[in-house]
Amino acid sequence: MDAESGSSVNISFDFTGKSVVITGAARGIGRAMVQQFVAAGASVVAADRDRDGLEGTRESVAAPITLVVADITLAEDADRIVQTAVDHFGSIDFCVNNAAVAPHAALLEERAEVWDQVFAVNCRGTFLMTQAAARAMIAAGKGGRIVNFSSGVSTKGSAGAAAYAASRAATEAFSRVAAIELAPHNILVNTISPGLIDTQPKPLPPVMAAALEKRIPGLPLARPGEPEEVGAIALFLCSEGASYVSGAVWSVDGGAGLGGRFTGPIIDDDPRYDWVTGRGQ
Ligand SMILES: NC(=O)c1ccc[n+]([C@@H]2O[C@H](COP(=O)([O-])OP(=O)(O)OC[C@H]3O[C@@H](n4cnc5c(N)ncnc54)[C@H](O)[C@@H]3O)[C@@H](O)[C@H]2O)c1
Repeated sequence: MDAESGSSVNISFDFTGKSVVITGAARGIGRAMVQQFVAAGASVVAADRDRDGLEGTRESVAAPITLVVADITLAEDADRIVQTAVDHFGSIDFCVNNAAVAPHAALLEERAEVWDQVFAVNCRGTFLMTQAAARAMIAAGKGGRIVNFSSGVSTKGSAGAAAYAASRAATEAFSRVAAIELAPHNILVNTISPGLIDTQPKPLPPVMAAALEKRIPGLPLARPGEPEEVGAIALFLCSEGASYVSGAVWSVDGGAGLGGRFTGPIIDDDPRYDWVTGRGQ
């Protein structure tokens, strides 16, 4: 990684001969992961409900990729995404379930239909994709890796995020169960929990711009993460290096889950500990 800016990740894996399905591949972290898996030599199936975005992802990579326009909330679409990988590449080695939605609303104004849709994409979709991928991996008998996504808000109170935070916490719980049930098949299941990552639409909508302007200086690293910095962890979790890692939640948040930015200096003038520090003697 470029230590100055943190804006690019230079880390290499060799996934030649491996196939990966990536959902939510039309933009953001999903598109970055397509680019990174292609660069690592993998055969990529990129799935999303956004056809134009998928075409943009295709244009952003040098090697051919397979696009599937699909809605992961539908069982037949989840099956079709996985079957595309099996038809094209013989089997599926990795499945990265990144697609999600995160509309925010005040709890008192939250509409049940929106709540249901958030859970349909973030939970039902992750479940359907995990199930379809695991069935195909078991049929091929080679094991595999499944990477699901959650969010730092799953463990924090965050105003406006009732549906989203609850849905991401559910994904973490689901992934732990999947890790236990799929381990006998040598399928490892992990969850990536990003913090603030720079995927917001540009130019930033005004309310979002104001909120980010306030929030970013208070982050431990005083910057958002780059999509590639999340993708690097997905690559690692699919690599040989992660062969004994399953059921874990991987925070990729620059320390934001621990607290705010440290600005120092640390001064302790509590007289109770003078006898410990020797101060004033
Ligand atoms: N960006 C962040 O700051 C952040 C923070 C915490 C967690 N995350 C998580 O990281 C992941 C990616 O985030 P992002 O910011 O790149 O997201 P994004 O909103 O930029 O992209 C999500 C993609 O998923 C697709 N998608 C949504 N519903 C779908 C469906 N039903 N079927 C198929 N595709 C669908 C969208 O079309 C879009 O292309 C998500 O799981 C999100 O919860 C992101």
